[in-house]
Amino acid sequence: MLSHAVAFAPGRANLIGEHTDYNQGLALPFAISEGVTVQASALADGRIEALAVDVGERDSFLVDSPGRARGWRAFVRGAAGELDRAGARLRGAELEITGTVPRGAGLSSSAALEVALVLAMLAVSGEAEPDRIELAKLCSRIENEWVGAQTGLLDQIASLYGQDRCALRIDFRSLEVRPVPLELGDFSLVTVDSGEKRTHAGSGYNERRAECAEACRRLGVPSLRDVTLAMADSLPPPLSGRARHVITEDERVDAAVAALERSDMVELGRLLDASHASLRDDYEISTPAVEEAVRRCKRAGALGARIMGGGFGGSVIALLPPDAGRLEVLEGAVEMRPADGARVS
Ligand code: GLA
Repeated sequence: MLSHAVAFAPGRANLIGEHTDYNQGLALPFAISEGVTVQASALADGRIEALAVDVGERDSFLVDSPGRARGWRAFVRGAAGELDRAGARLRGAELEITGTVPRGAGLSSSAALEVALVLAMLAVSGEAEPDRIELAKLCSRIENEWVGAQTGLLDQIASLYGQDRCALRIDFRSLEVRPVPLELGDFSLVTVDSGEKRTHAGSGYNERRAECAEACRRLGVPSLRDVTLAMADSLPPPLSGRARHVITEDERVDAAVAALERSDMVELGRLLDASHASLRDDYEISTPAVEEAVRRCKRAGALGARIMGGGFGGSVIALLPPDAGRLEVLEGAVEMRPADGARVS
């Protein structure tokens, strides 16, 4: 049993495939080098003493009866509660949490926090790490049942399976994860923060999810993966648009994989633009601040740019051509490179 363990879990960018995960669709995210680190030191008395260094706040609870809380504390208590429910025998521990992913910017600081907490708690308790798909599901239950956001598995799988220099083609029906080399040459992928913060629990995210479920109910299918464009168009608005987005976005994911395989950056850019138009017009998750961020990217010469993540604020991902100086034109843009997934040391 380790008396000390350090777990790091990265945030993620999503190249394409947005709002498809909870519709059993396809996505193409990659883990980034920024993430959350949890340092865990075993305590003898069965308590969790957590310190969120970046916000200077503490939490303390008994590991076998975490109880409810809000904000970052909900993640820590949820991690203990879900691990316990899954049969892990947890020890008390002091947990020191630090992070480098900007919160609320669409880079999945939440999944990075969940994954790092769960890995650190398992390691310091001497419990073996379960299969990573099971771990992703456990982390998403923390978010669903303790934090109150009905998010899918995209962020957790990206954080757990990330691979240096690769994006991950995830099929959310079979849960097959396939690395796809993300060789951009002199092109770059950047993120631009719209400046508008949002939390999943407080945004229209849950409403979109409910609309997709309602579309399935009316069409008599288990998921939007089974729906054709003609079926989508038979629905009343806004359900027709929601379904249309999901169907066309799944197609764009495989088109993006094919574009990457033949290094066709112009086509990749076109697909990013098409994804954005669909998210703005059919899925209706953009905002004026996000539109302004997309326009700034295009003015700076981006081949494509789109809203990334849950929507209703957050950040934009843009593909920039190999022209030195573009980054300077695009104030606040941060380059993102695909990096390895979560690890314990
Ligand atoms: C958030 C959620 C994910 C996914 C995306 C939209 O990041 O956490 O599960 O639904 O939004 O693609």
